[in-house]
Amino acid sequence: MEFTVNLGKRSYPILLENGSAEKLPDELKKLFPKSRFALVTNTTIAGLYRELIAGWKPALDAVVYEMPDGEEYKTIGTWNGILDFLLASKLERSSIVIALGGGVVGDVAGFAAATFLRGVGVVQVPTTLLAMVDSSVGGKTAVDHPLGKNLIGAFHQPKMVLVDNAFLATLPQREFMSGYAELFKYAFIGGREMFDFVRSNHALMEKKDPAVLLAGISRSIAVKAGVVEQDEHETGGLRALLNFGHTFAHALERYFDFKEVLHGEAVWWGMHCAISCAALNGMLTDETAELYGGMRKLMPDPRLPERPAVRRLYDMMFTDKKVTGGALRLVLPTEPGTAVVRGDVPAETVLASIEEVLG
Ligand SMILES: NC(=O)c1ccc[n+]([C@@H]2O[C@H](COP(=O)([O-])OP(=O)(O)OC[C@H]3O[C@@H](n4cnc5c(N)ncnc54)[C@H](O)[C@@H]3O)[C@@H](O)[C@H]2O)c1
Repeated sequence: MEFTVNLGKRSYPILLENGSAEKLPDELKKLFPKSRFALVTNTTIAGLYRELIAGWKPALDAVVYEMPDGEEYKTIGTWNGILDFLLASKLERSSIVIALGGGVVGDVAGFAAATFLRGVGVVQVPTTLLAMVDSSVGGKTAVDHPLGKNLIGAFHQPKMVLVDNAFLATLPQREFMSGYAELFKYAFIGGREMFDFVRSNHALMEKKDPAVLLAGISRSIAVKAGVVEQDEHETGGLRALLNFGHTFAHALERYFDFKEVLHGEAVWWGMHCAISCAALNGMLTDETAELYGGMRKLMPDPRLPERPAVRRLYDMMFTDKKVTGGALRLVLPTEPGTAVVRGDVPAETVLASIEEVLG
């Protein structure tokens, strides 16, 4: 399966196929016959996929950089280490960085590619479900700063994305479910057809049925690509829809110090807060509220270290970098598959929704 993200001169193909990682060298040599390649991955993935990488290396004559594993290494220090390596390897403007990993590797390797020699190409090869359905597409690259996540970065669209869901076989179950929450998110923003697809195929996707899961990943990417095509740099407001549940989720992640709750787990809770908020704000018909209530029952709620204090969590929503002019802008559902951005929800309604879902 293949489709294109249409962004004029920055358009790029997305290849989706179970087992396609084997074909990466052929695809790359076809697209970039004169380029040199630098593969950036982390130590965990390098260990798990030693044979695959050992096959790619001579086929592409690639140099390989292994960064340590973990969000705590998504830093300027790691970015600097990658740049030192690219310079020492004498890569040129025509070179291609291959980011093999989850969202952390994708973001930091993408940012290194965005800045090395004022920008070289990056090819994203996502290995987590979250990276497949979200971070590998759309061109956001970044590193974290002690003052906050993703505060230093650039928009830098990939030259190609290769999605091979065979990588998910080694992904820890908790990481899989965290990524699955992001896939689930597209049910609420991707239109009625996507809503119905997720609802009726949830059981097979959760069991990792390769064909159905790949179809879910492909549909998720198509929704994201459609939004990115219309609002590439997040200036038109449409891209905000991708943050469905995220204002609540970012506060929850911060509340637990970014340690005990995975991003997708926080998004799961955040989506249900957004649904509750819309219902309390009179935005859902009884029928839609019931349908959405049913979606919550499809998966067990992810564990939280403790019930958060509602008021403190609410206050933390205002430190999200997407809060503009002090007003909370929430992405709230309206009808199955559709959501809107609202900046006028009364504080007591937001508080009541947190209380209902998390209190
Ligand atoms: N750029 C964007 O648009 C965007 C969007 C969403 C999230 N993000 C970023 O993505 C990051 C989170 O990404 P993530 O959830 O993929 O986390 P991650 O990259 O930390 O990966 C999670 C864990 O799984 C391991 N792993 C990865 N693939 C594996 C595999 N196939 N088998 C076994 N283990 C594997 C990793 O080594 C890591 O320990 C955050 O930094 C977030 O800010 C970026």
